[in-house]
Amino acid sequence: MAVQLTYNPFLPEVRADPYPTYQALREADPVHRSPFLPMWVLTRYEHVALVLKDASLSADRTRFEGFDPPEDFEVHQSMLTLDPPQHTRLRGLVNRAFTPRTVERLKPRIEALVERILDGAERRGSIELVSELAYPLPVTVIAEMLGVPAEDWPRFREWSRVLAASLDPLMGRQDAAIDDYVAARNALASYLSEVVAERRLEPRDDLMSDLLAVGELDSRELIVMLNLLLVAGHETTVNLIGNGTLALLRHPEQMARLRDQPDLLEPAVEELLRWDSPVQLTARIATADFELGGKPICKGELLMTLLGAANRDPGQFPDPDRLDIGRSPNHHLAFGRGIHFCLGAPLARLEAQIAIGSLVRRFPALRLAGDPELSPTVTLRGLRALPLALR
Ligand code: HEM
Repeated sequence: MAVQLTYNPFLPEVRADPYPTYQALREADPVHRSPFLPMWVLTRYEHVALVLKDASLSADRTRFEGFDPPEDFEVHQSMLTLDPPQHTRLRGLVNRAFTPRTVERLKPRIEALVERILDGAERRGSIELVSELAYPLPVTVIAEMLGVPAEDWPRFREWSRVLAASLDPLMGRQDAAIDDYVAARNALASYLSEVVAERRLEPRDDLMSDLLAVGELDSRELIVMLNLLLVAGHETTVNLIGNGTLALLRHPEQMARLRDQPDLLEPAVEELLRWDSPVQLTARIATADFELGGKPICKGELLMTLLGAANRDPGQFPDPDRLDIGRSPNHHLAFGRGIHFCLGAPLARLEAQIAIGSLVRRFPALRLAGDPELSPTVTLRGLRALPLALR
C-alpha cells in the first residue's frame, strides 16, 4: 500500500531537515493537498517557477478563500502582497535605491562593519556568528539606508522577530498568532511614526527623507513600506550568512576550495542560497480555475510554492544534494521569480559575499565550537546561534 504523504513543516524532524520530505513530495505528489493545511503545496522547480511568473495569479492573501481575520483586524498590505497596478507604483518608488549600482556604493561601509566585528572576535578567538555578525550587519545596513537609528535595533528586534514568524503557515494557531502579530505591527508602526515625524522636520540623506520629499505615499503607506524594508532587509540576510557559513563548515572541501579560489565567492553565495534557502516558501492565490500537474486548482485556493524544494529539484539541478560552490548554471529560486523578485537581492548578495568572504579569508582554522541552534520559524529558515572558534 502506498504511504500517505503529508506536509507538516512543524514536525521537529522536518524542521531540522526538510529536504527528505521535499524529495518524497516532489517525486510522489508534486502538487500536494496537505490534510494539515488548506492549500496546495508545490515542490517541483517547473511548477514553482511557473506559478511565480504567472501574472494571472495573485499575491494578495486577502483573495484566499480561507482568509478570515478577526472582525476588527486591519489589513496592511505592502508591495509584497499587492498586485499591479498598486504593486508597480509602490515598487517603482524604491527600486532605484536597491539596484546593483546603487548598492555597490555601500561596499566600503559594509566592509568596515564586517572588519570591525571580526577584529573584536579575533582578539577573543571566538564568535557567536548570529548575534555578533549575521544579525547586526544587515540590520545596521538597512537601518542606515532607511534613516532609522541603527542603535535602536535592540528595541525593534523583538517586534521584527514576531513579524517574521507571522509569515509561517498557520496551523490551528490563528488567534494567538494574530494577536502577537497585531501587537508587534502596532509597536513597530508607532516607533517608525516617531522617526518619520523627526525626519519630516529635519530631512537627511536617507531613503525615508527621499520618500517624504517625493510625497507620493500617505502616512500609512509610508509606515507599511518602511516596515517591510526594515524587516525584509535583515530577517532574511541573517539566515543567508548563518546557513551559508554552516553549510561550508559541514563541507570542508568546499570551504577549502573557496579559500584557495576567492574568485568563486559570487557563485558560492548563489550556491549557498540554493542549498539551504533562507526563505523556504511563498504563496499565490488562484484567480480562476486551472489545472496544474493534473490537479484541478479552483479560484480562491492558495498555492504554497516551496522555494527550498524547487532549489533541490534534480530536474533543474544535476546532483542537487551536492554542495558545489562552482555550480553553473545556477538559476535558483531563492529570491523568487517574476514581478515580486526580491528587491533587496543585490544588497543581500553583497552583504553575504563580504561577510562570508572575510570570515573564510581571515580564519583558516574556522570551526564549530558548539551545536548550532535552529530558529523555530519555517518560512524563514535559519539559525538562532552558531558558536565558532576562530583559531
Ligand atoms: C538572503 C536574503 C533575502 C532573501 C532570501 C529574500 C527572498 C525574497 C523572496 C523569495 C521574495 C519574493 C516573495 C514572493 O514572491 O512572494 C522577496 C521579496 C522581497 N524582498 Fe527579499 N530576500 C532577501 C533579502 C532582502 C533584503 C536585504 C531586502 C531589503 C530591502 C529585501 C526586500 C524585499 C522586498 C521589498 C520584497 C518584495 C518585492 C515585491 O513584492 O516586489 N529582501 N525576497
